[in-house]
Amino acid sequence: VSRIAVLTSGGDAPGMNAAIRAVVRTAIFNKIEVYGIVRGYSGMIEDDIYKMDSKSVANIIQRGGTILKSARSDEFKTPAGRKKAFNNLKKKEIDGLVVIGGDGSFTGALKLSEEHGIPVIGLPGTIDKDCYGTDSTIGFDTAVNTAVENIDKIRDTADAHDRLFIVEVMGRDAGYIALNAGIATGAETILLPETKTDIESVIIGLKRKERRKKLVNLIVVAEGDELGGASEVAKVVKERLPKIDTRVTILGHIQRGGSPSCCDRLIASRMGYHAVVALNEGKRNVMIGIQNGNIVHVPLEDAISKKNQGIDQELLKISHILSI
Ligand code: F6P
Repeated sequence: VSRIAVLTSGGDAPGMNAAIRAVVRTAIFNKIEVYGIVRGYSGMIEDDIYKMDSKSVANIIQRGGTILKSARSDEFKTPAGRKKAFNNLKKKEIDGLVVIGGDGSFTGALKLSEEHGIPVIGLPGTIDKDCYGTDSTIGFDTAVNTAVENIDKIRDTADAHDRLFIVEVMGRDAGYIALNAGIATGAETILLPETKTDIESVIIGLKRKERRKKLVNLIVVAEGDELGGASEVAKVVKERLPKIDTRVTILGHIQRGGSPSCCDRLIASRMGYHAVVALNEGKRNVMIGIQNGNIVHVPLEDAISKKNQGIDQELLKISHILSI
């Protein structure tokens, strides 16, 4: 390759900037020209593409969000939209693309490559960690630490008032944030999209704890659990156990922002570097993943189709045992 482009797409994640920086600087080191595409596939369609240099990525490694901005584009889902987008790449003689995002972004990238032949490398950038073929994704570590930090604060006030708090964390389809943050904050109950929400046993458990006078209770629920998140769970709890003083906190988009953790900056830097190396070696249509600490190249097709292989059963078991 001699001229590549990089974009961020879908929900932003802390560490995306570190990944952009690594892509840009590795490209320049290898004498490859590099372009930034603004607002993901929307910017590709609208020709919002600019040449980047080493300075364009100065002072961003520590910043959340993405300097390239992110968007979800409906037009890119159509062959006509992708053709328009590709023509803008062709005009600039761009012969390789790095896409930082989740499975929706990879689906678009793969279609673009299949229809127009441009090689694409995907970097998993999502706080949800719901990508097949990688032990972690750019943004997960920061997001889960943000959740833990805030749930700890809630525990303080829960303890002071002997209250039950039902805290909702992000994760429409994936419960990794809920499970990890739930265990790390000692939640009594963790509710996930991947498992059935057995509200009866939640109620029984709360009654048992009420009898034991264990009044501080923490339920961590993913937004996509079967009942539909914290407010729905609270409705049932308040109705069935009116004597328990219950409050709801929805952490929301604070989990998407903030300065990336060391762990996220490191994987973003490694993945960004390897994206350019892969393109330079003629690899195409793979996602850069990390398995057992090592860099792996996962076919984009697998990353998309094998996603959501289910939650870690052992962690789930541990969460039950530790919350008795
Ligand atoms: O995919 C990341 C994520 O934060 C999910 O956890 C959440 O369900 C979704 O994005 C929210 O999307 P939006 O920012 O478009 O509301």
